[in-house]
Amino acid sequence: MDIGILGAATVGQTLARRLADAGHDIVIANSRGLESLRDVVMQLGSGIAAGHIADALKNPVVILAVPWTRLRDVLTPDIDWGGRVLIDATNIFTSYAPDFEVDDLRDDSGSEIVARLAPSARVVKAFNTLPIAKMFAPPPAGQLRRVLFVAGDDADAVAIVQHLVSDLHLHPVRIGSLVTGGRLMELGGSLSSLELFVDGGTQQT
Ligand SMILES: NC(=O)c1ccc[n+]([C@@H]2O[C@H](COP(=O)([O-])OP(=O)(O)OC[C@H]3O[C@@H](n4cnc5c(N)ncnc54)[C@H](OP(=O)(O)O)[C@@H]3O)[C@@H](O)[C@H]2O)c1
Repeated sequence: MDIGILGAATVGQTLARRLADAGHDIVIANSRGLESLRDVVMQLGSGIAAGHIADALKNPVVILAVPWTRLRDVLTPDIDWGGRVLIDATNIFTSYAPDFEVDDLRDDSGSEIVARLAPSARVVKAFNTLPIAKMFAPPPAGQLRRVLFVAGDDADAVAIVQHLVSDLHLHPVRIGSLVTGGRLMELGGSLSSLELFVDGGTQQT
């Protein structure tokens, strides 16, 4: 599948490499343009090309892996998503280490805000509940796969993302809509930082 990735730091690079290893074709983009990504794509290797934001946006699946504070720079109103799948991997930090701060969204949630900023996209929340290093660490002895939560309102879009998650040797668990599941996955939600495994005797569904 052709996949665009917006953001080329830890999340963008890790998902790019792992999805390319699974046979997907990746275009990765940042705000500073192709030249700034030259070394990154060289190190990442085959199956991954640097692109402009517009190149990444053309793909049927686009992964949003930028800082929460840059959301509105990326999800501009002029983008016609045309029903393409937008995977929201963001967390609502307003600052990172050492002074982690979380946005105060009051009665709102991050993935609902993303969905409002990209109204013609099919938004699926995924890849945000664990630090990347933990997400892809080998499972403990006796455990087959690590669970990865997925939430979204469009069943077909969620199914596409579940397949991608499986391709990454993770076990996708759909937990409902953006309003319900997305909120559980958000920082402070009960699924944020929760690590679960499928044991060796359980078949992938
Ligand atoms: N790190 C983790 O373990 C982890 C795990 C789960 C979820 N998350 C979430 O995933 C998102 C990405 O995290 P991260 O750790 O990979 O790095 P990050 O520091 O949040 O994101 C930096 C990347 O976003 C790019 N970027 C910034 N503004 C942009 C724009 N307007 N258009 C396109 N690209 C833009 C940056 O490149 P330029 O500045 O060059 O544009 C850089 O490549 C965050 O929301 C984070 O909370 C992180």
